[in-house]
Amino acid sequence: MAYIDEATINAIRRKHPIKEIVERYVSLTKKGDDYWGLCPFHADNNASMSVSTRLDMFQCFACKKAGNVFNFVAGMENISYGDAIRLLAREDGFEVGNTSNYVNPHIKDYEVMNLAIKYYQNNINSILGDNAIKYLLARDIDRETIQKFEIGLSISKQPLTPFLLNKYDLNQLIDLGLTNTDSKDIFTDRIMIPIHDLNGNPIGFGGRIYQTRDDSKYINTKATKIFDKSNILYNYHRAHTKLVKDETIIIMEGYFDVIRASTIGVNNCVAPMGTSLTKNHIQILKKITNKVILCFDGDDAGKMATIRAIPLFENSGIEVKVIRLEEKDPDEFIIKRGKDAFLDKINNPINVIEFKMQLLSEEKNLNDTKEASLYMDEMIKELTKESDDILIELTLKRLATKFQVEYDTLKARFNQYKNNQKNKMTNKTIEAKNIKKIPNKYGQATDNLLYYMIVSGEVVTVAETNVSMIMDNKKRRLFNEIIYYYHKYGELVIADFITYLTMKTDVADTFESIINNNLKLEYTWEEIDDYIKCVNEYYKKNIIDKLKLDLSREPDPMKQANILKEIMKIRGVKTSD
Ligand code: UTP
Ligand code: MN
Repeated sequence: MAYIDEATINAIRRKHPIKEIVERYVSLTKKGDDYWGLCPFHADNNASMSVSTRLDMFQCFACKKAGNVFNFVAGMENISYGDAIRLLAREDGFEVGNTSNYVNPHIKDYEVMNLAIKYYQNNINSILGDNAIKYLLARDIDRETIQKFEIGLSISKQPLTPFLLNKYDLNQLIDLGLTNTDSKDIFTDRIMIPIHDLNGNPIGFGGRIYQTRDDSKYINTKATKIFDKSNILYNYHRAHTKLVKDETIIIMEGYFDVIRASTIGVNNCVAPMGTSLTKNHIQILKKITNKVILCFDGDDAGKMATIRAIPLFENSGIEVKVIRLEEKDPDEFIIKRGKDAFLDKINNPINVIEFKMQLLSEEKNLNDTKEASLYMDEMIKELTKESDDILIELTLKRLATKFQVEYDTLKARFNQYKNNQKNKMTNKTIEAKNIKKIPNKYGQATDNLLYYMIVSGEVVTVAETNVSMIMDNKKRRLFNEIIYYYHKYGELVIADFITYLTMKTDVADTFESIINNNLKLEYTWEEIDDYIKCVNEYYKKNIIDKLKLDLSREPDPMKQANILKEIMKIRGVKTSD
């Protein structure tokens, strides 16, 4: 496949002005020099995203996402930067091959895992797999579904390990969680459900018992270098390819809930694997959606899991809704009540406030005046976490009607809590600022300097000769890349520089955060001078700190004297020689 060079990529970029591409997805309004619209990368209701035709870049002031046309398309279409280039290139009639020579370091591991999947699939289709197939059919999982989810079978009489040892090292099999140190299979006589990473690479298995009861129901692959439960969700890769951007993702508890849902055409389901949801899960969900529905088991454990999951989504930009089922789990609900009943559930999820209202009322006797008043108070507190004004007002009105109290009374209480919160918050932010201010001074100076290097070639020249050293690794690399790029091309077009960084280095995110500093384009040499001084001071201070440490550890007085001399030299104090 043809390698696509940087000049071609830049030419493709110029053929697709950012404003035109963004307008395919978002409507824009002109304000001043720039265009503004609702940011599609977070739940935005303020038109926080600006599109600059001059810089050919977009930038969201709320969620801080920024970049060129390829970053935008990659984000919208959920594809890589390279694929975004290919996508736009194709519109010009270009057919371009692999844009990167990046090779996944785990490719050999996926090969082994793929072979294991195939082996287990062969097992389930052999005579020895009859009972497993019967078990699945009895659960109303048909052959098509078995095939779709690549469900297989581990059989003690037909072990996987000897088969893989023909081609692979024992150590690799142990590392991948397939084999133990005695060269025996980890999974025996279990229905094998393959698990994939976000990109669809096979990384592990869930193995379910099917003919005995006296063993743990599931065994999952142990944590390995490619399998980390807290960073993956079962079925994510399928749910996400089915997903139209911003369609809802439904989170369920179990493998079989997800598999069952797919049998009735609900393909946007994922499941954590026996663990609670984590912040990492929220991060990966954010990549593909801004709406989720929690559809956990119908029992108290499922209710608790729902309660625990909700706060994780606070400030994530993801809107959460809840489904509560009148059956054990989605699997059973669908089997017992059918497709339409389930579709009705997912088309009418309740919002978080509603869910909390139900929860709180379950715990209380609302005919008791005192308990009812407590209930209203708790609900009002919950409402202060809500950001949707209309929802707040409607809920307060509902409470007022239900308990026959004045709306204004409830609203006054709400405002009181809200104000208390605000006061607490501002105290906290002031505190946080005071703590952060001092160590941040150097970081800020570095960021500002890098920013002005990006916008002005003059600053590059000055910084190059006057900066002694940038202490932060990634920022130092970015500093060097800017200088390199500037010398190579004689100018720095930011939107093209992004391509360069994305394709060649791992400092693109550092660049994004620096661009997000959002400073003005004009500068004075005085301030540039200040930044450089500040950066150099920090370097000096670091060197001196290190020398002081050496000094405290140095037993030899002669050497001590030398270190001391060096410190003084760096400080700019004249010494006798
Ligand atoms: P469930 O017990 O709800 O599983 O556990 P399920 O998928 O509905 O299984 P069936 O219907 O009984 O066959 C939810 C999830 O918790 C994990 C699995 O990922 C399971 O899908 N789990 C459960 C384990 O890892 N180990 C166990 O022993 C049980
Ligand atoms: Mn189940």
